[in-house]
Amino acid sequence: KVTHVILTGGVGSRLWPLSRKSRPKQYLPIFGGKSLFEMTVDRNDTFADNVIVVGSKDNCHLSREVLEKCNVEYLDVVEAVPRNTAAAIAFAAFASDPEDILIITPSDHIIENPEAYKQAIEEAVEKAGQNFIVTFGVHPTKPETGYGYIEHKGDEVVSFREKPNQVTAQEFIDRGTFLWNSGMFCFKASVLLEELKEYQPAVYEKSLIAWQNANNGRLDEALSMDIPSISIDYAVMERSKKIKVVPAIFRWSDLGSFDSVYDYLKKMGHQVDEFGNMVIGTDNYTAFLGLENTIFVHTHNANLILHKEHSQEVKNVYGQLEKAN
Ligand code: GDD
Ligand code: MG
Repeated sequence: KVTHVILTGGVGSRLWPLSRKSRPKQYLPIFGGKSLFEMTVDRNDTFADNVIVVGSKDNCHLSREVLEKCNVEYLDVVEAVPRNTAAAIAFAAFASDPEDILIITPSDHIIENPEAYKQAIEEAVEKAGQNFIVTFGVHPTKPETGYGYIEHKGDEVVSFREKPNQVTAQEFIDRGTFLWNSGMFCFKASVLLEELKEYQPAVYEKSLIAWQNANNGRLDEALSMDIPSISIDYAVMERSKKIKVVPAIFRWSDLGSFDSVYDYLKKMGHQVDEFGNMVIGTDNYTAFLGLENTIFVHTHNANLILHKEHSQEVKNVYGQLEKAN
């Protein structure tokens, strides 16, 4: 059985103020009336026998709206508190049969050519059947610090390095043997759980206890708080020796932060002035004086003005606002 696991617990804090706690970015109907979440469901519908959605109690109603509209049956795993992707993926694996092949996808990516995507998935499912953990490698175009880097020789993974600093990222690009990790994974439920147990026993144990005490897929808050918060990239991908990489021959954009939104919009013909300044969210005439590579983001009750190079820090603003609440 092939199961599509959608991770949708992130709040999208780096895209504030477009992304809000009450409606994270993956639920904004920005592309021809469809949200990134809905596009994720559509894209995987043809090859998934099952769907598991792992997301927060704050927005499971937003996922439900989409899945009901698309007529997709799914298993709902509802987190009381976000404990990061290692735990979220463990819950999906616990909910599955050990031999099930899971395709893990974020819910906030844009993939432009579905045929190439399908081909990559087929290749990944085959390798996952041979007990490998499969990553999808994207050809890097800049020293992005928000991604994982996969050093590879063909489909062999030499090393996996999550979120390097700028200098290291530039080194990786210069060496030419690294790919970006797309953030999608494919593996047998049992294989991932074995690796998690080996490299992060506490995450494994605590997630298992939380899962065993879940009420109809709804996790208990206190038991969840015991689970160490770590991403699957640091927990397993940097350590496992069972990793393979499939080239992402599809066109991929992660709209994770404003610099990638900027690049995507620019490619789509959105206006940028001669100094690289961009306006998002309003048709109001906006002038930039003495500024370069500045992004102005407008929403009905909040604005953000940032230099493109500070895109990763927007989460700090979101963090401050949460404290202020
Ligand atoms: N259910 C659940 N619970 N989902 C979560 C949680 C959680 O606690 N935390 C994050 N997610 C979801 C997010 O909504 C997103 O869809 C996905 O998991 C990945 O989380 P991000 O927070 O977006 O990760 P990232 O962008 O910093 O890094 C990952 O993706 C990059 C590519 O986009 C890594 O896999 C990198 O290696 C990769 O390059
Ligand atoms: Mg992301």
